[in-house]
This record gives sequence, structure tokens and C-alpha cells, in this order.
Amino acid sequence: MVSIDTIRTPIKPQLEEFDAFVRSCFGGGKGLLGQMLEHVLSSRGKGLRPTIVLLTAALHSAGGVGRRTHLAALMTEMIHLASLIHDDVIDSSDMRRGRASVNALWQSHNAVLVGDYILSRTMEIGMSSGQYDLVSHIIRAVSILCEGEIMQGDHASRRDASREAYFEIIYKKTATLIGVSASAGALSAGASAEKVDAMRRFGDAVGMAFQIGDDILDYTASSSVTGKPSLGDLREGKVTLPLIEVIESADEALRNEILAALPLCADDENKREFVRSAVIREGGVERAREVMKSYLGRAMSLLAPYEPSPVRDALVQLCAYVAERER
Ligand code: FPP
Ligand code: MG
Repeated sequence: MVSIDTIRTPIKPQLEEFDAFVRSCFGGGKGLLGQMLEHVLSSRGKGLRPTIVLLTAALHSAGGVGRRTHLAALMTEMIHLASLIHDDVIDSSDMRRGRASVNALWQSHNAVLVGDYILSRTMEIGMSSGQYDLVSHIIRAVSILCEGEIMQGDHASRRDASREAYFEIIYKKTATLIGVSASAGALSAGASAEKVDAMRRFGDAVGMAFQIGDDILDYTASSSVTGKPSLGDLREGKVTLPLIEVIESADEALRNEILAALPLCADDENKREFVRSAVIREGGVERAREVMKSYLGRAMSLLAPYEPSPVRDALVQLCAYVAERER
């Protein structure tokens, strides 16, 4: 099984420089704000977005990566962190990456504010860099993220199970920022418009697969492995691909039984377990996995025109990692 550390090997020194850059921008603060930022920075997770920025920059530059690339990595990572802090408020989730969420520790109003702080400082750092092409390329993702989150909440409140809506939501809430990370890396290294576009499509496909993987793990992994409450999607009314696959293929009696159980899943663990076992028994997880793999196949085909190199291999391994990850 591929580990995220293996994928990071070709850009290890750049990632260390990047971590120092993040700390210099957001670390060492005082008072409550400093404590909240320290909590967020010390549980940053896999760093998937900055890893993708640094790899796609390295793929398009003969010499090492520079300050422009670190700026792109910082912006994508901090937008992501801010969005997760707000997401845990929206989802009333008290656990993130195996630790208490910001809202659980300091209440929702502080979590909203520290998310706003991270987002606005990120914009400020971007604007003061003067790298306007890169900054506007990345910032476009933020409003799309919000559109995805609003659309998701709207559908969750109705337990809507449409496949089209699901794909649009995950494209907006997850794939866009991963697509922008891949294309911003290439743009930061001076790649042609055609290459920047190819990387956007690569990142979009990885991002779609990544979110489908997340939605599968919500049904299959325990919270001690993912660091998030399990069956959270059912609890929150989110109808995701493994369940959509089963709702579409089940006979009428089972479909009606599942649809009747969904509104009760918020408070009833037995209903959640009923839906989980139906999803697994009826092959929803396997079929969602096939869809995830088809996105990863698309992503890998976009790497085919590049000469083999440790950086290209790392991006191929990233696709394997997304397919196999357990948390
Ligand atoms: C996690 O989804 C959440 C997202 C991918 C996006 C959240 C976006 C916003 C809250 C919009 C606001 C954006 C900014 C930049 C402040 P999930 O709940 O399915 O995943 P989880 O299981 O990890 O919580
Ligand atoms: Mg959530």
C-alpha cells in the first residue's frame, strides 16, 4: 500500500520549507487566537493540497520550486483548513483528525471567527505578494466551495438522492480546490496554458475520486481510523454515492424502506445501522469504488504525456493512494 510519505519523497526539502513558511505566516500568535491557530496547525492532516501544488510545480520546472509555488501551496492549504473549521460548525461535528474540533473546544462563534481570520489573512498574504495571476486563479475556488456547501445543505435537508446533484456537489466542495491546487502548481512554475489546463483536469479527477473515497469510508471505516464520527453523512442527511447506487438498483420494497429510514438517521443509531448494512450487502460500496477508479484512470491518462520521472511517478502513486487509503 502506498503511503503519503512515499508520495512526498521527491519534494521532501520543499515541504519542509513550506511548513516553515506556514508557521511564519500563522504560528506563534498570542491569546485565544494564537491557541486556536496552534491547535489547527498542529493537526493539519495529510497536506494533500500542498503536496499536489509542489509536485505539479516540480513536474513543470527544470530547476527547483520557488516562492510563487510556496504561496500557492499556502493558499490552497489555508483555504482548505478554514473550510473544514466552518464545515465542523455547519455539521455540528465535535471531532476532526482524531482530536476535538475547534467548535467543540472553543464554541461555534470562535470557530467561525478563526476560519474567517485564516481566510482573510490568506487573501492578504496573496494580495501583498503581487502575484495577481496566481492569486486570482486560486481565489476563484472559494466561492465555488461555498456554492457546493450550500447546495449540499439544501439537498441534505430534503434527503435528496439525485446522482447529478451529488456529482455537482462533490465537484464544487472538493474537486475544485484539488483541481486548482494541481493547476496552480503548474502555473506557479511557468507552465503553458495548455499544461495548466491539463493539470486542472488531473486535479479535478483526483478530487472527485478523493471525495467518493471519503464517502465510501464513511460507511466502511471506524471513527478510530478516520478520526471523524462514523456514519456522519447519514446522521447529517447526506445521500452519497454508495447509498445512491443502492437506492437506484434496489427493488421497490427495499427502496421505500431505505427512504423511510433516512429522515430518522439523525437521531436513531438502529436506522443508521440498517442503512449501512443495506448499502454494504447490496453492493453500493463496490459500485461507488468502480466510479472512483474510473476518475483515477482519467487522472492517470493525463500524466501519460509526461516523461517518466520521480515526480511523475509520485503523482501516479498519488492516484493509487487515493484508491487504497483507509482514512
Ligand atoms: C468537508 O466535507 C467540507 C468541504 C470539503 C468544504 C466545506 C466548505 C465550506 C464550509 C464553505 C466555506 C469555505 C471557506 C473557505 C471558509 P464533509 O463534511 O463531507 O467531510 P468531513 O467528513 O471531512 O466533514
Ligand atoms: Mg463535515
